[in-house]
Amino acid sequence: MSRNPVVAVCGATGAVGQEMLKILEQRDFPHSEIIPMASARSVGKKVAFKGRELKVVELTEDAFEGVDLALFSAGGSTSEKFAPIAARAGCVVVDNSSAWRMDDNCPLVVPEVNPHDLDWHRGIIANPNCSTIQLMLALKPIHDEARIKRVVVSTYQAVSGTGHKAVEELENQVRRLMSGQPVVADVYPHQIAFNCLPQIDVFMDNGYTKEEMKMVKETIKIMGDPSIKVTATCVRVPVFYGHSESVNIETEEKLTAADVRALLAKAPGVTVLDIPGKKVYPMPIDAAGEDDTFVGRIREDETIANGINMWVVSDNVRKGAALNTIQIAETLIERDLLRVSE
Ligand code: A2P
Repeated sequence: MSRNPVVAVCGATGAVGQEMLKILEQRDFPHSEIIPMASARSVGKKVAFKGRELKVVELTEDAFEGVDLALFSAGGSTSEKFAPIAARAGCVVVDNSSAWRMDDNCPLVVPEVNPHDLDWHRGIIANPNCSTIQLMLALKPIHDEARIKRVVVSTYQAVSGTGHKAVEELENQVRRLMSGQPVVADVYPHQIAFNCLPQIDVFMDNGYTKEEMKMVKETIKIMGDPSIKVTATCVRVPVFYGHSESVNIETEEKLTAADVRALLAKAPGVTVLDIPGKKVYPMPIDAAGEDDTFVGRIREDETIANGINMWVVSDNVRKGAALNTIQIAETLIERDLLRVSE
């Protein structure tokens, strides 16, 4: 690469887009220009970057002329339409929506787990679902050591995963309830304040939600092993930032809790927080704003021969979305897979 890339952030006014801009700045991502893009509604708005204000431009079919790298987080239908247009214009797209994740022509990548899959990209690379990313960081070292047969995961997912409007909805509902006013549910089908919703995304014919099936399918694609069985229950909880997961794993080989602690302690992107006697375990309020995925409550499942239970927490907007997207872009540069023409 002979010059720094021109980088478009598509969905720059959204929850993940804003975080992307922050992370590009914090990590000093190499760029010759940053172009924030959003819908026509946002034209004229400005976003902050490195102490300057950048003008938001409209995401249109012609917007990718001269752009080398486009980081998309503007919803599935926007990605479906514009990612191929951007790729045809010579741009490498890293897409945070679910639009391209299961496409056989698009690698689905967590850089700590399957960076090699970037080598066969054809212009569009998919960023996995937030709940899948943190699960992969915790499962990969265990799978490499003892072969995972089956995983049962239950999630406790923060409202920021749904976007800005959902964060505002939780805030407003809490405020209204505390002042004795009736609540309005607009983003979610039911009140989210002081409640848990066992529905994330739409229901499928098999009774699971789309989010639950994303975790099943994405795990197999990222791990590159169709023999791993995953079953998931995804729950939205009244937490602003940070997804938590209760994970039960059955392995081929026996691992003790101490083995798992040692494996995860040296795993990239993972921090073990597991001192039950001192009430030390991961919590979303501590994970928010952090890059790592935190694992605690590691213990053997006493009901089966080779089983482990654990609790996995990560900032869903950072590692679950914006950070992973930018780490994919960094890995593309490291592996010389981002061609920038003069
Ligand atoms: P806009 O603010 O102009 O609507 P969130 O996930 O927080 O709701 O953010 C969604 C992001 O995706 C926003 O930046 C939003 O821009 C952008 N977006 C939504 N729909 C479109 C579209 N049709 N074209 C371009 N950007 C879009």
